[in-house]
Amino acid sequence: MAKEQKKTPIFSGASPEQVAEDLRPLVEFEEEGLSLAALHQLLEKKLFPHLMNYDIPTFQSMFNAIPEEGAKFGAVIALQHNQGVTNWQVSPGGAMLEELCGKALCRLFGFAREADATFMYCGTYANQNALYLALHRQAEIEGFDLNQRGLQGFKDPSRLAVLTSEDAHLSLRHAVRTLGVGEQGLIPLKVDENRRIDVDNLREKLDELNGKRDIFCVVATAGTTSSGSVDPIMPIAKICQESDTWLHVDGAYGFAYCLVPEREHLYQGRELADSVSWDPHKQLGIPIPNSVLFLRRQEDFGRMTIFGDYFNPEGDPKPNPGLKSPPTTRPFSALSLVTSLRYQGLIKLVERLRAPLAAIKETAGRIEEEQGVELSLTPDTGILCFRIIPEGFPKDKRNELQEYVYDRIMNEGRRTISKTILGQDTVLRLVAISPSLTADDLMETVGYARSVAKEYSSSMRTK
Ligand SMILES: Cc1ncc(COP(=O)(O)O)c(C=O)c1O
Repeated sequence: MAKEQKKTPIFSGASPEQVAEDLRPLVEFEEEGLSLAALHQLLEKKLFPHLMNYDIPTFQSMFNAIPEEGAKFGAVIALQHNQGVTNWQVSPGGAMLEELCGKALCRLFGFAREADATFMYCGTYANQNALYLALHRQAEIEGFDLNQRGLQGFKDPSRLAVLTSEDAHLSLRHAVRTLGVGEQGLIPLKVDENRRIDVDNLREKLDELNGKRDIFCVVATAGTTSSGSVDPIMPIAKICQESDTWLHVDGAYGFAYCLVPEREHLYQGRELADSVSWDPHKQLGIPIPNSVLFLRRQEDFGRMTIFGDYFNPEGDPKPNPGLKSPPTTRPFSALSLVTSLRYQGLIKLVERLRAPLAAIKETAGRIEEEQGVELSLTPDTGILCFRIIPEGFPKDKRNELQEYVYDRIMNEGRRTISKTILGQDTVLRLVAISPSLTADDLMETVGYARSVAKEYSSSMRTK
């Protein structure tokens, strides 16, 4: 029987019913107040065992990480002083630091002088706002102001459409839903064998839909959620320029890896995108929420501006990042990112980013040498997709096998992996975010998955 070695549990492994039972005392709001010491004791006993342990090398499934030291330092200072930052009235230093940070990030990532950035709550929200700006521009092309007339201003709103990879993140479905375009307006593009947008298919789709649909945005993903693939940004940007279409790059997961010199070539053309989203709360370990939206032309942020009599009054010359995004309450996310980047310095930052990429690359190389394990694609970033296929295992049962391996590993609660679907194939997926994760850690999981699969395969034969 496949034996899981003794390991620190990744969480208690308790069932949802058991977890609910343990946590109920925490929500007895009618009770008298507790001292902080008593509260800590209660949390330690009832909640902590059920929290996921991101900091151990067997956490290999998601984009979450323990906060980086410098980032944690900044987050605590924000809580002690000004955790909110919208405008000068709320936090003069906060407002100015966010503005300076946005511009400095644009320089760091190689955007032109006219570019600017703002902080958003999450990648989903950043993508939604990018699509909103793209739609706004489409309305301008059609000669009206989207903010005033809404979708009714379009001659035929059912023609509105966004083209994106079939592997694009589900947040784009949220975006078209909430913008009133609907999911019928999200048109998938084929991907190549490395799960990157097939540029020929983009051209074909644009031709095919010409005169039939109004494509107001093309979304390229710089690090897809399922496989970490980076769409070919440069050729896509050129096509968008030729067809005068807004290009959004969803770099929520993978954008920062462009700072690693060996991977920079994958991101060429990013400076041509009209908008780019990026989540420092993913691979950089910045406390949540920490998400950034870059725009190639800073004046495009003006489409999001709403002046108020009590707040954000028109004509106030003071720095006001709150005019660049919808919320009036905005977290001081810039501070933890600033302290993290300044604490590490660029060299260490690049090393931190490089480590998981190197671990994934080495694991991919080692898998290629292994019998019975199939690498699904060559990884662009820090995600590795593979299938366990024992010798002679029937083709029509291979997806089932990956599901079985996934369920077994997750139910054992000693390590986490994930699964996804690429085309017709269910595949197992490993994610490297922590800089301390090594190829040995990842290979150990692959080896364990293989032993679980072998057991399943033998039990099938004896049935
Ligand atoms: C490519 C991509 N885009 C967008 C998102 C959404 O980001 P968030 O979880 O911060 O809303 C994710 C999340 O995993 C993602 O991988």
